[in-house]
Amino acid sequence: MKLAIIGTGYVGLTTGTCLAELGHEVICVDNDPVKLEKLKSNKSPIFEPGLEELIAKNTAAGNLVFTDDISNTVKNSEVIFICVNTPPKPDGQADLKYVEAVAREISQSLNSDYKVIVDKSTVPVRTAEKVKETLLRYSDKNAKFDVVSNPEFLKEGTAVIDTLEPDRIVIGVDNEESKAVMLKVYKPLIDKSPAPVKIVSVRSAELIKHGANTFLATKISFANLIAEACEVAGADALEVLEAIGLDDRIGSKFLNPGVGFGGSCFPKDISAFKKTLEVLGIDPSLVSAIELINEHATERFVKKIEKQLWVLDGKTIGILGLAFKPNTDDIRNAPALKIISKLVADGAKIKAYDPEAMENTKKVFPNLEYCPDPYEVSKGSEALIVCTEWPEFKKLDLQQIKSLMKTPIIFDGRNIFNPSDASKNGFKYFGIGR
Ligand code: NAD
Ligand code: UGA
Repeated sequence: MKLAIIGTGYVGLTTGTCLAELGHEVICVDNDPVKLEKLKSNKSPIFEPGLEELIAKNTAAGNLVFTDDISNTVKNSEVIFICVNTPPKPDGQADLKYVEAVAREISQSLNSDYKVIVDKSTVPVRTAEKVKETLLRYSDKNAKFDVVSNPEFLKEGTAVIDTLEPDRIVIGVDNEESKAVMLKVYKPLIDKSPAPVKIVSVRSAELIKHGANTFLATKISFANLIAEACEVAGADALEVLEAIGLDDRIGSKFLNPGVGFGGSCFPKDISAFKKTLEVLGIDPSLVSAIELINEHATERFVKKIEKQLWVLDGKTIGILGLAFKPNTDDIRNAPALKIISKLVADGAKIKAYDPEAMENTKKVFPNLEYCPDPYEVSKGSEALIVCTEWPEFKKLDLQQIKSLMKTPIIFDGRNIFNPSDASKNGFKYFGIGR
């Protein structure tokens, strides 16, 4: 099938590339010339394991193309996926200006050839109705189209695998014609994947996405609440949460306490969902509590550092991990950045290392000392702070790290080290909930 992707970011690029890999002819549109230039020379603008190889393979095969020409792309496509960003407004609600802008652009190229417009961006319930209204308002009166919702559940760092081996495919449609088109799009995946396909109403699909992210964030905030209780009561959060998660009804995933969840999605989707509940006249207290616990997790961690090191002014502190999670270069809402801001405000000198996210971080904090590896970070540091659980950090030689540091203190914001190993190696160790 001929498919169009409008917005070639984390979701658009991964979705477009994987749909090409599944045998479709895909045109990806973006209005960012820098991004397009990279893509046209087979370079991925984002670090996402396995993606660059698939881009090169499918571009060479001729079934993946990148362009800024939305008009011709829409005319030549049967299905058009809207994958633009939906950032938060200052009051927390989702800013849908990019979705609206794309809908208006698409409307200019619709005609009597039936097309399906797919909302893949994460949006509040009833957005598809607004997209349809916009398309009707600005398009030719003979335009034939349907708007469907097909939320995306990929995680950064495993985006390609999540797309090719999804837990489920959710398709929100309100008629048979658009349902048949969407099933044809996903047929190559459905044929080889055991993932259930949930055909639901458009509104249900929109709510499934906000509901899933809010539930995942609830689990993390719950884990952080238990971690704080364990620290105060003198228990071990890892033991407690492991045993809680062994109940099949609860499950062990997403129960890792830490320095709070970050990223481009949970913080914004949780606040957008809160606004949606308010608009619907429903009490959003549960969602407010998730947000508060999350902010508190980061603040509590910084307070722990301040309490131990007392005066931070002039002290050198090493940061391991800047990305909001491992296997990505994405620093949007990364807890590391919030922690660094507070430490810098206290007068600390920061040395930092991340395997992939240093270039992005330099744009926000040009004056930190960026190091080539964790050992360089340790040299002369009075404390080492783990903000992201990159696998390579777990294998560090703690004896060597200790010999390089001025004072051997570790604040392990992701519980990557065993406290007794750290103590045996002569460190003063502070984990989360332990
Ligand atoms: P992103 O910022 O990485 O990408 C969005 C892209 O859209 C950018 O490249 C931007 O240049 C482009 N764009 C914006 N307006 C455009 C226009 N008028 N014409 C052409 N291109 C335009 O965003 P993302 O992380 O891919 O997220 C996109 C949506 O998917 C959001 O709603 C997000 O919540 C949702 N989502 C994201 C993830 C994730 O892991 N990042 C996962 C699931 C869902
Ligand atoms: C998240 C969801 O997991 C995806 O299903 C969803 O599609 C996506 O948001 C989205 O809608 O954009 P992502 O933000 O890429 O994916 O990353 P996650 O793995 O969910 O991690 C988010 C944050 O939670 C990270 O900062 C991570 O460190 C933190 N986290 C995660 C914890 O603190 N504890 C955990 O147990 C799990």
